[in-house]
Order: sequence, then structure tokens, then C-alpha cells
Amino acid sequence: MDSKKTQYKIAVIPGDGTGPEVIREGLKVLEVVSSKYGFRYETINYDFGGDRHLKTGEVLPDSALEELKTMSAIYLGAVGHPDVKPGILEKGLLLKLRFSLDQHINLRPVKLYNVAFCPLKDKVEKDVDFVVVRENSEGLYKGMGEFQNKGTKDEVAIQISYNTRKGVERCIRYAFEYTRKRNRQKKLTLCGKTNVLTYAWDLWERTFYEVAKEYPDIKTDYAHVDATCMWFVKNPEWFDVVVTDNMFGDIITDLGAMVQGGMGIAAGGNINPQGVSMFEPIGGSAPKYTGKNVINPLAAICALSMLLSEIGEVQAAKEVEDAVIKVVKEKLKSLSAGKMGYSTSEVGDLVVKNL
Ligand code: IPM
Ligand code: MN
Repeated sequence: MDSKKTQYKIAVIPGDGTGPEVIREGLKVLEVVSSKYGFRYETINYDFGGDRHLKTGEVLPDSALEELKTMSAIYLGAVGHPDVKPGILEKGLLLKLRFSLDQHINLRPVKLYNVAFCPLKDKVEKDVDFVVVRENSEGLYKGMGEFQNKGTKDEVAIQISYNTRKGVERCIRYAFEYTRKRNRQKKLTLCGKTNVLTYAWDLWERTFYEVAKEYPDIKTDYAHVDATCMWFVKNPEWFDVVVTDNMFGDIITDLGAMVQGGMGIAAGGNINPQGVSMFEPIGGSAPKYTGKNVINPLAAICALSMLLSEIGEVQAAKEVEDAVIKVVKEKLKSLSAGKMGYSTSEVGDLVVKNL
């Protein structure tokens, strides 16, 4: 084997609540799979999150941001702390990382690994297998708006959805490329609200059909966001890749997570195709389960698989996903915290055993 294999620098931000417990299992899997595939890596740990903020007042220092720009990838556990006011860590850490590192794509696969964990009647594994490409840098998340007459009975709160042609187009283009590369149904659905939000979705729709001309091999479809929610439940098998804006993407991917078996298995990637990407289980910090060794680490392990795929270790990524599938199919009683029939660390061990 080549002794001078690539060296990856992986920033690890375990974060709050159960984040450290699930990241620990992911790193266990990484260690084994790296020696199997002969690549070397180094992890650099960052203790950002609620505890550090409460101690030092810091959320994400600029110096750390500069360091993170030199990494191969970032592996994030969870943000959200019961003693920190909502918004501080979400905006100051998670969203700041996404925006500063220009991770303009949020990629969220929705795949059912075991029919036993699907809440949908009469659906089987092959019916639930699609990917949501969520725009990750604009829209309502841009934070634009204002209060007028704040605190009075005439108060107005304005929250603007900000959509640039360039931002919309790069997201749509990524989605077309991804659909082609994925090579399944070769169908891309635009999820929007053209019937009401006639500025934003006019731009999205025009851009979508213009870019579509460059991808004659990809079928295109459109669904309003409310209807998309209905079809995710009624006919998930219709979907291959779905592209949407930041806010709708946030909402429909929680629904997607439920359809694939719950937050215990749902992972996502914040992708900068030209830069540093960040991978995370999408379920949050689950503070009530902290330190109990009962949370499901599979979402974090799936996030690791996405990370490996993005840095170019595609075989290793596939092996990790296959091991997760085996564990989900053959071992677990449930995907929910405390009901798996195994502890957090035992589930990590089971994945390692199946590698
Ligand atoms: C997600 C989360 C975040 C979001 C929160 C924590 C800011 O819900 O990754 O989907 O809204 O994007
Ligand atoms: Mn969300």
C-alpha cells in the first residue's frame, strides 16, 4: 500500500448535549475505516458550544474561523444548550459557520434502511430514497428585516427572503449535477410556492427552467411546498432529488427525517463544493438524554459517511453506510433514544463489527 497517502485534517466540534456522545462513535468508526482503506487523518478538536459560551462569553472566535478554512472537513455534533438563550448558538455558531465558509448547499438524503422503522403505511425501503438539496446561504436565513414601532400596539416586524440570481442558480446547478451523478430516476423536483410568493419563486422558477435546458437528460418537475409535504407522506417514491430554498428546505427535511425513521438516522452536509464542508446529524442536542449513553449515534455515523464521500474516500463512505444498513436491518429494535436495545456505544461497536 502507498505509504504517502493523503493526510486529512478533520475539525471536530462535538458541541452541546448529546453531540459529544454521538461524535465519539463516529470517530471510532473513522479510525477503523481509515486503517482499512489506508488513509491518514488528524483530528483537531474545538470545544465550541453552550458550555464554553457560558464560561467565556465566546461563541466562535474569528481566529478559529480562519483555522477552519484550512481543514479538509468539519465534523459537527450538535448545537443548542438549555441555559443559553435560543438563537445565540444557532446564529453565532451553526449559521455563522455555514455563511462564513460559504457552505451554500445543504444536502439531506432521505433513505429508509428498514421498513420496520417507517411510519408510512404500505411503503417499503425502495419507496423512500430521495435527496433534498436545500439552499443554505440566503432566503429568510439571511436575517434581513426590521421592527417598526417596536413595543407599541402599531408594531410591525418585517422578515425578508433574500434571493440572488447567482445564489439561486448555483444551488439549482448543483442539484442538476447531483441528480445526474446520482443516476437514479434522473428527476429533479423544484419545491416552491410560485402561487403566492411571486417574487422569490418567480426568480427560482425562471432560473430552474433555464438551467434545465443544459440538462436534457434530467426530467424536471415542480411542486408547491405544501403539496410536497403531502407527497412525501403519500407518494415518497415519486421523488429522486428535490431542490428548494433555505426555509422550505429546513421544514421539509424534518418531515423527510421522520419518513426515513426519525432523527436518530438523519444526517446532513453543509457543502461548499470549492471549500470546506461540514457534516452533522440533523437532530439537535437532545439535552434530556445527555450523558446517559442512550442516544442513537447512527445519524452522526451517516454524517461521517457523507464527510468521507465529500473528501474523496468514496469506498470508505460506502462501507460505512453499508455497515449502518446492516445494523439497522439486523440489530436495532428502534431508532429512538433509549429504545434501540443497545446503548450509544454498543451501536457504535456494532457498526465497527460490520465494517
Ligand atoms: C437545521 C437546524 C438549523 C436550521 C437551526 C439549528 C438553526 O434546524 O440544521 O435544520 O434552521 O437550519
Ligand atoms: Mn432544521
